[in-house]
Amino acid sequence: MEPSLQLIGRTITKTVEPKVGDSILQHAIQHGVDWQHLCTRGTCARCRCLIEAGSEYLEDPTEAEYRRLDPEEFEEGYRLGCQSIVKQVGEIKARNKTYF
Ligand code: FES
Repeated sequence: MEPSLQLIGRTITKTVEPKVGDSILQHAIQHGVDWQHLCTRGTCARCRCLIEAGSEYLEDPTEAEYRRLDPEEFEEGYRLGCQSIVKQVGEIKARNKTYF
């Protein structure tokens, strides 16, 4: 199976080719998925998402994510889309789930 990144935005879902070095949010913006975001620096948490598959293909969480997200959220599989960088191509599925 081709490596793919499934992006589930507010109303748009797309499956795209993952690009190493780009964030989940960058992929969503480039492919026209309606993914919420404001700061792109890891502070607003609008880009929060649930990684439903393939978290092993992402770089480890950044300092900004550790400051912004609770330990329980990491355990449940949440990341910040703007901070989640693709490390390796593979099957990844991310759903934008903001707080409100
Ligand atoms: S866009 Fe603000 S935390 Fe990601």
